Amino acid sequence: MDDFNRKAHWETIYTTKEQKEVSWYQEKPETSLRLIEQYARNKSEIMIDIGGGDSYLADYLLEEGYTDITVLDISEKALEKAKTRLGEKAHTITWIHSDIFEFKPETQYDIWHDRAAFHFLTKDEEIQQYIRIVTQAIKPEGIVIIGTFSETGPKKCSGIEIKQYSEQNLQECFGKHFTILEILHTQHNTPFNTVQDFIFCVMRKGIDRIE
Ligand SMILES: C[S@@+](CC[C@H](N)C(=O)[O-])C[C@H]1O[C@@H](n2cnc3c(N)ncnc32)[C@H](O)[C@@H]1O
Repeated sequence: MDDFNRKAHWETIYTTKEQKEVSWYQEKPETSLRLIEQYARNKSEIMIDIGGGDSYLADYLLEEGYTDITVLDISEKALEKAKTRLGEKAHTITWIHSDIFEFKPETQYDIWHDRAAFHFLTKDEEIQQYIRIVTQAIKPEGIVIIGTFSETGPKKCSGIEIKQYSEQNLQECFGKHFTILEILHTQHNTPFNTVQDFIFCVMRKGIDRIE
């Protein structure tokens, strides 16, 4: 998998498949929206969706009145699709076409959301690099929401291997810099009438110290 071309893989997916032909499609990203609503302190919080693709999360966040939304994705085609769908409203969103590993944040975020992008990192050094990037990119006390396949979920997504997570290995990954606030297990119904087990983890930057 060492010479795997991540960017080419995702451009091919978004160029050749319609929205409902990919397993991760959601008409409405209910869990993500509920968690953002629960943890955002106000509608002007600075938020970023990592590997947002052409998901409807940004559409719903705009509709709910959030004013500072960024969507980052490795696939230019995915972002183009989302922008086309949003029309005029697309101008109110910041779009970043980048591999997460090349992302040099110019601001610090209040909320970092990632559904089904982090779990594609299967090598230890990649996972550590992601954690370094999110730790730098998030404000003190900022909120990170990560959704991945759980230990009872699929082992692959879009034909490539993923890493499954449990509460314990999320704690091992993020526990040095973040306090876990909430873990929830959800099931995603794919457009192909199959069910995928997800785990969502909500964390706050900083470690709670016992006085
Ligand atoms: C399974 S899809 C999930 C899309 C969206 N988050 C959702 O929930 O519908 C994974 C997304 O992550 C993006 N992605 C994968 N690896 C990435 C990377 N290294 N940097 C940025 N985006 C990446 C893909 O292009 C794709 O849009």
